[in-house]
Amino acid sequence: MLLVLKFAGLCLCLGLCRGLQFNDVDEEAPSAAQTSKYGSLWPLPQEVNIAETSFKLSSSTFRIVDSKQSSAGPSCNILQNAYRKYFEYMFGVARKQEFGKNGRPGLSELTELQVWVTSVDSECDGYPSITSDESYELAVDQPFALLVAPKVWGALRGLETFSQLVYEDEFGAKNINATKIKDFPRFAHRGILLDTSRHYLPVKAILTTLETMAMNKYNVFHWHIVDDPSFPYLSRTFPNLSQKGAYHPYTHVYTPADVKMVIEFARLRGIRVIPEFDTPGHTQSWGKGQANLLTPCYSGSKPSGSFGPVNPILNTTYDFMTQFFKEISSVFPDAYVHLGGDEVDFTCWRSNPDIQKFMEDHGFGHDYSKLESFYIQRLLDIVTSTKKGYMIWQEVFDNGVKLKADTLIHIWKGNQQQYQHEMARVTSSGYQTLLSTPWYLNHISYGQDWHDAYKADPRSFNGTEQQKKLVIGGEACMWGEYVDATNLTPRLWPRASAVAERLWSHQNVTDINDAYSRLSAHRCRLVERGIPAEPLFSSYCPREYKAV
Ligand SMILES: *[C@@H]1O[C@H](CO)[C@@H](O)[C@H](O)[C@H]1NC(C)=O
Ligand SMILES: *[C@@H]1O[C@H](CO)[C@@H](O)[C@H](O)[C@H]1NC(C)=O
Ligand SMILES: *[C@@H]1O[C@H](CO)[C@@H](O)[C@H](O)[C@H]1NC(C)=O
Ligand SMILES: *[C@@H]1O[C@H](CO)[C@@H](O)[C@H](O)[C@H]1NC(C)=O
Ligand SMILES: *[C@@H]1O[C@H](CO)[C@@H](O)[C@H](O)[C@H]1NC(C)=O
Repeated sequence: MLLVLKFAGLCLCLGLCRGLQFNDVDEEAPSAAQTSKYGSLWPLPQEVNIAETSFKLSSSTFRIVDSKQSSAGPSCNILQNAYRKYFEYMFGVARKQEFGKNGRPGLSELTELQVWVTSVDSECDGYPSITSDESYELAVDQPFALLVAPKVWGALRGLETFSQLVYEDEFGAKNINATKIKDFPRFAHRGILLDTSRHYLPVKAILTTLETMAMNKYNVFHWHIVDDPSFPYLSRTFPNLSQKGAYHPYTHVYTPADVKMVIEFARLRGIRVIPEFDTPGHTQSWGKGQANLLTPCYSGSKPSGSFGPVNPILNTTYDFMTQFFKEISSVFPDAYVHLGGDEVDFTCWRSNPDIQKFMEDHGFGHDYSKLESFYIQRLLDIVTSTKKGYMIWQEVFDNGVKLKADTLIHIWKGNQQQYQHEMARVTSSGYQTLLSTPWYLNHISYGQDWHDAYKADPRSFNGTEQQKKLVIGGEACMWGEYVDATNLTPRLWPRASAVAERLWSHQNVTDINDAYSRLSAHRCRLVERGIPAEPLFSSYCPREYKAV
C-alpha cells in the first residue's frame, strides 16, 4: 500500500514538478498506528508517569481553583484568565456534556484541579523575563489534582500540560489518567520571530500566534517590526516614520494601543515581547519619514538619488537614535531589545565622498566593517544608557565590535557545520548565544520537513560544558517575503511545534516515531482549538478544521 502510494506520488511529481528532489517524496513516513505511551503530550515534560487508572471529568462539576495556600489570589488576572481559557479548551464553549449532568460526582470522577503558587511573590502583576521560573509539578489523583509551581509562569505551563492529559473516550466522555509530572524547560529562551515589514500582519494574526505559542510553551515573541519594505511601528516621537514609511499610514500601522495590547496579551501567556529595530542596514523604509538619516549613494561625483544604510558620520544620526530608543525603551517593558546589525551592504558607503573622507580621518583605511563597528558601538552606548540589554545578529560579533558582557548573540547564518563552528567561537569568547539557522521555517519543502527542525540541537557543537551553558535557546523564524495573514498560521504550525519540543524537553527526547504520534495528536488539538495548523501526513482528526 505504502509502495503504491509512493509510486503514485513519484509519478505526479515527475509529471508536475520536475525540479523537486527525489528524496523529498522518498521519505519513510512513520505510521500513525503506534500511539505514544505519553499520549498527546507536546512538548514532552521532563519527567512523566502516566498510570492506567483513569478518572472522568465533567463540565458541570469540574473546577480549576486556587489552592488555599496559594500566594496568587483571586485578583491574579494571569491565572483567572488561564483557568477560564483552559476550561473552555477542555470542554468546549458551546458543547453540552451529557456525563454527570446531575452534578453528583461518581467514585471515579475528578472534580477539581487545585493550583498552588508557592513563592511569596507570585509575579502576577509582572512581566516574564529571561530568569523567570517556569517549573511546575502536577499530580493527577483522587480526591483532586494538584498543580504546584513557584511562580505563575510555571502554573501557566502546568495548566497547558493538564489540558493535554484530558482525552475523550469512545462515548465522547472526558477522561484523564492518574499522572505524575515534574517539568521545567531545558532552555530559558524559546522564541518565534514574526516579520511585520515585508508583509503587514494584522494584530489579530499576531494574537493568534501568541495564543498558539502558549499551547507550545514558547516564551519569547521576537517582533521584527520594521525593515526595508515598510515601517509599520507608529512612533509618538517620530510619527513621520510610519506616516511615510508604512505601506499605508492608517491601515498598515501598529498604534501605541496595538502595541500595548500585544504586550499585555503576551504577558498573560508568560511570553516576552522583544522588538527588533534593525540598523544600520535594512532601513530603507526609515529614510522616507526621516530626512538625512540614510547615506546618499553616489554615481561618479554626483548623488544618484538612492540611499544606503544609516549615515554613520553625522551627529544628527545619533541624536535621532537617542530619542528614538528612549521611546522604545519606555514602550517595550522587556529588559532586551534586538538591534539587528545584519547584512550591511558597503557599496553605497564606498561611493560617497564624505564617507570616504571620514574613513580617512579616522584611519579606517578601506575596511568598511570598521565604520560599521564605529556606528554600532555608538548605538550600543545609546541603548545601554536607556538601561536595556541587547541582542544582535552574529555579524556584529564577527566584525569584532566591543560588546557588553551580557549581550546575546543570535546565530542565523551558514550550514550546520558553519553554525556549529560559530556557536563554538561565540561561546568560547564568553557570550551567551541563541540559535536560529536550522529553524528558518519560512523555507518550505515537500514532505515532512519538520524532521530537520526536530533533529537540530543548539548544544551540539564542539565545546566545554561551560560553553554549552552559554547557549540559552533558540528562535524559529518566519520571514515575511511570502507570508501574510493568509498563510502565516499553517506555515508556522505545527512545524514550529517541532522546535518547541527541542527547546523545552530533555535532550534525549529524540525518538522521531514517538514524536510523530504525539505531534499528530497535538496538531489535531490545535485544530480543535481553532488553529489551522497544517497536517504532517495522510491522516484525519476526530474533529476537522472548520473555518469560521
Ligand atoms: C490511560 O488509562 C487507560 C486505562 O484506563 C489505558 O488504556 C491508557 O493506555 C492510559 N493512557 C496512557 C497515556 O497511559
Ligand atoms: C513630517 O513631514 C512633513 C512634510 O512631509 C513636515 O512638514 C513635518 O514637519 C514632519 N513632522 C515632523 C514631526 O518631523
Ligand atoms: C559632532 O560631535 C562631535 C563630538 O560631540 C564634535 O566634535 C563635532 O564638531 C560635531 N560635528 C558637527 C558637524 O557638528
Ligand atoms: C568536533 O571535533 C571532532 C574531533 O576533533 C571533529 O571530528 C568534528 O568534525 C568536530 N565537529 C564540528 C561540528 O566541528
Ligand atoms: C533521558 O535522560 C534521563 C536522565 O538524564 C534518564 O533518566 C532517561 O532514562 C533518559 N531517557 C532516555 C529515553 O534515554
